[in-house]
Amino acid sequence: MTQDELKDAVAAAAIDEIRPLLARNCVLGIGTGSTADRFIDRLAPLRDDFQGAVASSEASAERLRRHGIEVFELNSIGTVPVYIDGADEVNAHLQMIKGGGAALTREKVVAACAERFVCIADDSKKVERLGEFPLPVEVIPMARSYVARELVRLGAEPVYRQGVVTDNGNEIIDCYEFMIDDPVAMEARINAIVGVVTNGLFAARGADVLLLGTADGVQRLL
Ligand code: 5RP
Repeated sequence: MTQDELKDAVAAAAIDEIRPLLARNCVLGIGTGSTADRFIDRLAPLRDDFQGAVASSEASAERLRRHGIEVFELNSIGTVPVYIDGADEVNAHLQMIKGGGAALTREKVVAACAERFVCIADDSKKVERLGEFPLPVEVIPMARSYVARELVRLGAEPVYRQGVVTDNGNEIIDCYEFMIDDPVAMEARINAIVGVVTNGLFAARGADVLLLGTADGVQRLL
């Protein structure tokens, strides 16, 4: 199976996963990226079975609206029963690196407001140790050089993601050559650098369920 077919398979499995939660007053948390896009497309025919969605990016919000799904501000909703999103890497503890699409901050905020996080990913994303994928860090623009120097002190090779401005008006630094032994500690340590908005480690709050697309079918990992 191709990677796209595996993404389609997990998007379909995610519909089955959340179907029991659907109710007319239900607002879903929806993530960002090509796997989340496939989930959004499969959600469209069910639009009358739930109230709407909170999106983790302008791109996902736009896609949801195009399908006739109402998009709510998170501040007007409070909590969502479930957040469905992809990942760039995920380990056996369902800790993740996210932010390849530069949406990490809003993704982390919506995930924080979710009762359950359902991660949808093809099996190329499953790793023993996080860090092969460069860890994204969102920074306020004036702090970029300072934060980069601090990331070097932590052992990373920081690279400014040229030409990318996040939905929050900030910039992204990607940390290369940065294998992570203690994701919870490193998430907190990077977030403590002045000027960092957030980093792409989702470790303190990882996923609750991983739907992993493999050649043998979709595995449901807890
Ligand atoms: C965007 C993300 C995505 O979830 C992550 O990049 C995975 O994307 P894809 O489903 O396209 O592989 O964190 O910021």
